[in-house]
Amino acid sequence: MSARGHAFGIDIGGSGVKGAAVDLATGELVHERIKIATPHPATPQAVAEAVAELVAKAEWDGPVGLTLPAVVIGGVARTAANIDKSWIGTDARELFSAALGGRPVTVLNDADAAGMAEDRYGAAKDFAGLVLLLTFGTGIGSALLYHGTLVPNTELGHVEVGGRESEHRAAASVKERDGLTYEQWAAEVSVVLTTLENLFFPVVIVAGGGISRDADQWIPLLTNRTPVIPADLRNTAGIVGAAMAIDGGITP
Ligand code: BGC
Repeated sequence: MSARGHAFGIDIGGSGVKGAAVDLATGELVHERIKIATPHPATPQAVAEAVAELVAKAEWDGPVGLTLPAVVIGGVARTAANIDKSWIGTDARELFSAALGGRPVTVLNDADAAGMAEDRYGAAKDFAGLVLLLTFGTGIGSALLYHGTLVPNTELGHVEVGGRESEHRAAASVKERDGLTYEQWAAEVSVVLTTLENLFFPVVIVAGGGISRDADQWIPLLTNRTPVIPADLRNTAGIVGAAMAIDGGITP
């Protein structure tokens, strides 16, 4: 199956490999997303098998876009902050293409995909100018877009703030791990956001990741200047952005 105006996106995360066909006119999923548990250890080979299983389940025979929580340049993973280290140097495009019978695939960073989706269809769709999306999860992912054009692999979660990487201060996992209240965690997030807005001066910051579901509990506590709005597409943003990357011919 593959239909005009539809593209297939797969979001590879720590707990699930999730995918669906996306209607690129609306940014909506064409069917319920299909989820396969991420194998452990999440080695390239094991993940590629999960991807093949997912695509077979969906009976999709067209090109596929995929996200990885890593810097991806020319289809090759260059970092692995929160994934299996064996991804570093892996040609993910070649790996997934081979697992999918040689069809064309596009691979990009997970936060870049989410940012593209939120910018075109979601929370930032009515903002013109520089948009910054940050995903708060195990780490902090970032996407920077200017009038819809992505600057790939910004990796702002690794910017040092006060001598510590931003994601080590303010990822959602830090709140969990240290049992922080929303007040305590929001103070850390504010320091990170203030640093980033002083560097980039975005018109809006979109907050994504699972914790954006509780946005009303912490966004009002932030003390930085730029308006912060919760992501709209939530757990479909990565899938939608992965599907868009095929359409846009993006090969970061
Ligand atoms: C990685 C990024 C990724 C982010 C969110 C960071 O640790 O370096 O590539 O986008 O986590 O998954």
